[in-house]
Amino acid sequence: MSQPTGAELPQGMPTIRVVAMPTDTNPAGDVFGGWIVSQMDLAAGTTAAFRANGRCATVAINSLVFLEPVVVGDEVSIYTRIIRTGRTSLTIHVQTWRRARHTHITSKVTEGEFIFVALDEQHRPRPLPPLQAGEDLPAPDSTTD
Ligand SMILES: CC(C)(COP(=O)(O)OP(=O)(O)OC[C@H]1O[C@@H](n2cnc3c(N)ncnc32)[C@H](O)[C@@H]1OP(=O)(O)O)[C@@H](O)C(=O)NCCC(=O)NCCS
Repeated sequence: MSQPTGAELPQGMPTIRVVAMPTDTNPAGDVFGGWIVSQMDLAAGTTAAFRANGRCATVAINSLVFLEPVVVGDEVSIYTRIIRTGRTSLTIHVQTWRRARHTHITSKVTEGEFIFVALDEQHRPRPLPPLQAGEDLPAPDSTTD
């Protein structure tokens, strides 16, 4: 993938890449914010389920900002990073970047924090398992409970 044009680089693990399609637009013809949030939730949920080694549910979206619009044809890339873990919960920092079709120009379009809870078979909170050998630790600038 081409490098972003600005000084900033994507933070986190590349988790989902998808092309925005005409069916993802709102009545005004722009890509629907809810579609982007669902992609962010899906990406964060994938990272949460991997770390929790099982089922997780979104319990909160702590923050979410839309920085730039996404248009049909954009390549949309979602990056996730676990920034905090508790007894049963994980906080995941999520960024969305766009690359305009036929260009090398990329830019950050959204950023947010999603909180997930690991669940057991009865949908009750479940303690997170210990990190496995070789599993990535949270980034050095993150915090853990
Ligand atoms: C997830 C759910 C089982 C948690 O139940 P709960 O009674 O709040 O559970 P607890 O109070 O034991 O909290 C569990 C963890 O979630 C955290 N938590 C709960 N609500 C939170 C909130 N609003 N914001 C941040 N963290 C929250 C708690 O701090 C705790 O974290 P810890 O164990 O790491 O300390 C319940 O809220 C639920 O089923 N929500 C609906 C989930 C859903 O349908 N999501 C959308 C589809 S995936």
